[in-house]
Amino acid sequence: LQKIGVFTSGGDAPGMNAAIRAVTRAAIANKLKVVGIRRGYQGMIEGDFIPLRSADVSGIIQLGGTVLRTARSNEFRTFEGRQKAWLQLQKAGIDAVVVIGGDGSFTGALTMSQEFNISFVGIPATIDNDMYGTDYTIGYETALNSVVCAVDKIRDTAVSHGRIFIVEVMGREAGLLALNGGIACGAEVILIPESKEQHDELKRFLDKGYRHKERSGIIMVAEGDEPGGALKIAEQVRREHPDLDVRVSILGHIQRGGSPTANDRVNATRMGVAAVDALLDDQKSIMIGIDDGKIVQVPFNKAVKLNHSIDGDLLDIQRMLNI
Ligand code: F6P
Repeated sequence: LQKIGVFTSGGDAPGMNAAIRAVTRAAIANKLKVVGIRRGYQGMIEGDFIPLRSADVSGIIQLGGTVLRTARSNEFRTFEGRQKAWLQLQKAGIDAVVVIGGDGSFTGALTMSQEFNISFVGIPATIDNDMYGTDYTIGYETALNSVVCAVDKIRDTAVSHGRIFIVEVMGREAGLLALNGGIACGAEVILIPESKEQHDELKRFLDKGYRHKERSGIIMVAEGDEPGGALKIAEQVRREHPDLDVRVSILGHIQRGGSPTANDRVNATRMGVAAVDALLDDQKSIMIGIDDGKIVQVPFNKAVKLNHSIDGDLLDIQRMLNI
């Protein structure tokens, strides 16, 4: 192993830069050359490569986004696209690659490594925290804190006006941001794709609880809860309870940006170093994860199955506290 590539792919997540920095410096410390691949798989296809020296990753640990930029590439989904990408890696003398991203990025890496002679090791980075085999993905904690900051502000105005706010947070397939964000903000109802029974809670809250006991209401909904998300739920609530004052707030991409939290930086750093160690150890097609505080290696084909389990205790706690 002499030269490795590193790139970020799919949706960005705060802490990706800390991972790029750790991979680059750990590789240099082990006498490897490092190449940054810009704009994800699309940049790989186009040979958009830059050499990375230690100084190039200086001053980025605290930055949100990704200095290597990112993309979702349709061309890479074709065999011809992956062949082009492989030829570019060959031309640049890259022997192995660290991919920082989520399930789509790892699926692409797995496919390419089965077709061509190239090793990939993955670092999980997605604000959704839905990868199987790791307790933690880079960016989740920062996004969760952004949700909490935003919803605290919404609560102020909700209380002033005695309004119900339906707040939509990201999570195409996963409700973790909604669940933990909802707990942290004292949401009255939490709607997540993993537990359809929560819609009964919404009904119960609207039928009984709201006017008697609360001065405001936050209904936290994960975007993947049902098609139409917060807007559709608001329509339904207005139809069934025309007397209630309902507003919608979709937090959107504000959740994807911002300076990473301390934990996101520390974990990104640990995983970056572990990814280089794994490549030096001849590993391929594995994701670095953190399980019970310890670094683990999870085969790509397991990691991409996604984690659809949630902590049912948290839902019970939320219901109990909203009496
Ligand atoms: O995969 C992470 C995620 O934040 C999802 O929760 C969300 O649906 C998606 O990215 C939106 O991504 P984009 O707008 O970049 O396509």
